[in-house]
Amino acid sequence: MDRRPRRHLLSIQDLSDTDLRHLVARSADYAAGRVRPADQLRGLVTAVYFRRTSTRTRTAFSSGALRLGSHLISYGPGDLQLNTGETVEDTTRVLSGMVDLFVARTADPVAELRAFAEQDRMGVINAMSAEEHPTQALADLSTMTQRFGRVDGLRVLYVGEGNNTAAALALALSRFTETRLYLRTPPGYGLDLDLLTAAQVAAGRTGSTVAEAHHMTDLPEVDVVYATRWQTTGTAKPDPDWRRVFAPFQVDGAVLAASPQAVFMHDLPAHRGEEVTAGVLDGPRSIAFEQAQHKMFSAQAALEWCAG
Ligand code: CP
Repeated sequence: MDRRPRRHLLSIQDLSDTDLRHLVARSADYAAGRVRPADQLRGLVTAVYFRRTSTRTRTAFSSGALRLGSHLISYGPGDLQLNTGETVEDTTRVLSGMVDLFVARTADPVAELRAFAEQDRMGVINAMSAEEHPTQALADLSTMTQRFGRVDGLRVLYVGEGNNTAAALALALSRFTETRLYLRTPPGYGLDLDLLTAAQVAAGRTGSTVAEAHHMTDLPEVDVVYATRWQTTGTAKPDPDWRRVFAPFQVDGAVLAASPQAVFMHDLPAHRGEEVTAGVLDGPRSIAFEQAQHKMFSAQAALEWCAG
């Protein structure tokens, strides 16, 4: 067995600037065919453990691992003895003796994934936790790199809930030089304040800005307009009146018209007629489905990097 130490990818905040840029560039290289799958993970075993629904991320990591020559084990929400009370620590001791890379979506606090990562025999990848969706951000920046040839200097308008996709995007974009991120989040549904502050601190270092507002007036001209589903992972909101609060935060033709050169991105899945109109999502300026394919390229970059 190849037992070299593995790395973990749990949060954009854990990555050095060099590693973040490498992961985005490597993903874009896979997307452009400059790097081809050639058994980079040959002989390794990748396990994907998804406790929450997923179309893109689970398939991206599964397909990405297989294309790089890895063997694959797939666990659904009911499969591991974690359900019957076995501890994360015991689960990790067992799995890390048999598995090289472990990709997990929990939608619970990232602390659990950090417990899985208390060893270096099995690389642990956060495929979405409550706070952050780091590999979504890698796919997003990879898509931007392919479209614009760079991330530095890009201006992005993000419309929707300050969810784990928004947090990862803010933490990643702010690490590049002179980027502008305008977050327009419904009142009461903004970014977690600690994560917003962390992104703003990073932005201060790179000459970038991260600004959040809770209205849809005075929209800036940008290069990318980004929307996200109103109900992240389909989760219900406790406020029975939430749709009224979200209603102004729809990306329609008028929002796109404020940025005549902008492309439209969406982390998907989408609900046409809610966060985005069909005309925008299916229109000529939408690159949302290219973006979805970048999830596989960024998964390949992440798997390879964690494998060491
Ligand atoms: N964007 C995203 O994470 O999609 P899935 O929930 O389908 O994986």
